Amino acid sequence: MSRLIVVSNRVAPITEGEPTAGGLAAGVMDALRQKGGRWFGWSGNVVPDMVTPPLPVVEQRSGPISLYTTDLNQRDYDAYYKGFSNATLWPVFHYQTDLAHFDWAEFEGYRRVNRHFADSLQALMAPQDVVWVHDYHLLCLAEALRAQGARNRIGLFLHIPFPAPAVLMNIPAHAELMAAMCHYDLIGFQTESDRLAFADYVLREMGGEALPGGVLAVGGHAIRTGVYPIGVHVDMLRQEAAAAADSAQVQALRASLGGRALIMSVDRLDYSKGLPQRFTAYERFLADNPGWHRKVEFTQIAVPSRSDVHAYQEIRRELEGEAGRINGRFAELDWTPLRYLNRSFARRDLMPLYAAAQVGLVTPLRDGMNLVAKEFVAAQDPADPGVLVLSRFAGAARELDAALLINPHDEAGTAAALERALSMRLEERRERHAAMMAVMRHNSLERWRDRFECDLRNPASLEHGASAA
Ligand code: ADP
Ligand code: F6P
Repeated sequence: MSRLIVVSNRVAPITEGEPTAGGLAAGVMDALRQKGGRWFGWSGNVVPDMVTPPLPVVEQRSGPISLYTTDLNQRDYDAYYKGFSNATLWPVFHYQTDLAHFDWAEFEGYRRVNRHFADSLQALMAPQDVVWVHDYHLLCLAEALRAQGARNRIGLFLHIPFPAPAVLMNIPAHAELMAAMCHYDLIGFQTESDRLAFADYVLREMGGEALPGGVLAVGGHAIRTGVYPIGVHVDMLRQEAAAAADSAQVQALRASLGGRALIMSVDRLDYSKGLPQRFTAYERFLADNPGWHRKVEFTQIAVPSRSDVHAYQEIRRELEGEAGRINGRFAELDWTPLRYLNRSFARRDLMPLYAAAQVGLVTPLRDGMNLVAKEFVAAQDPADPGVLVLSRFAGAARELDAALLINPHDEAGTAAALERALSMRLEERRERHAAMMAVMRHNSLERWRDRFECDLRNPASLEHGASAA
């Protein structure tokens, strides 16, 4: 029997109801809950340097999921997570090269941790198992597993964007990185433009050749590439939203709004999410539309993330200043136009908050997919839905083109979209919502998981284009 082994840096808390820490953990947990499988990753704990690898692997079980986690020591955490993953790959892959730094020692630490992961995995894998690796922390994992002799089928799904070659080449180790990625059998991307950017590098910089069915031949082996937009459990999210529609939390929110319209945003506090631009667009909306004063409130929920990386400390400081400034400019004794909360909510508490909003404002500068956009749409009451205002630079915009699409750098355009969303007639809101729900039902989370797993297990399915997105 061939099992599915999932590997990612971040794993979700195994107890239901606890907040999950980003799109990857939320998506993988929902996908595994139904079918079960083994999931290996970092425990989230950092131990002193005197604890040296191999570090123990701890097993926890929850229904059909077996979760295996290991700690990182401080040196590995600094180089692999804080350094190369989040201060090099993350900014460059999100096209923010100005925020990136590079250090060969950190890259070596990144490779070292990928090797430690491979060491631990050996004990969890049988030769016939297939291995599904997630995201940018583990680009070198297949190479490390192959070096240990693993012949399993190994696939990678990249949750974040893949940059154009000219941008990727800002990383001095781009050639080593790409050579390592070519050890995967299958690489999945959120959008076709991410896939094309990867193929472009392989063809131009590595002398690869494009074969039918998304296959790239390079250095004597074939890597299959495909597009697998991650989805959400549409019906489950709507049920969660409806079930808690009268919870104490939602009642408190309604009472505090006193009939005002609600604009809502939910993010990890990350510079890729475009929060400063969003705040100033809202400020512009207030300045341009005095008729909306006292009739609207904007609530931004932003949970602190990667707080020991310098760029994240900067953005947090900047936003605190901006929130205070905007409220200082427009607030009245009985009206706070912008509420800024630095905390996280369990998802079942978040859904009714989305449902209580008239506008979901999702404006990343660049995002692999953005699950918040999909969660917002799924949470809405189809009879009286809110409107999604969405950045065209989120992967989700490829599917949710019935949202009001904006360019987050266009302050006036975003402000105008807010006005349009708040004033939109019921019929148009229903039409747009129905169109987005139809796409989301088609590109469901189950379909994402099943197509990737099927293509990983059966290489022929991709060659024959059987699972086109
Ligand atoms: P990313 O993976 O970059 O964080 P996504 O929008 O794809 O972005 O996924 C974010 C996930 O994390 C969503 O499932 C969302 O509900 C959750 N999330 C984000 N911010 C919060 C928050 N403040 N509280 C609770 N959950 C949050
Ligand atoms: O794909 C988005 C993502 O980067 C995940 O890989 C990650 O788990 C999540 O955002 C949250 O970030 P972190 O794991 O650094 O807390």
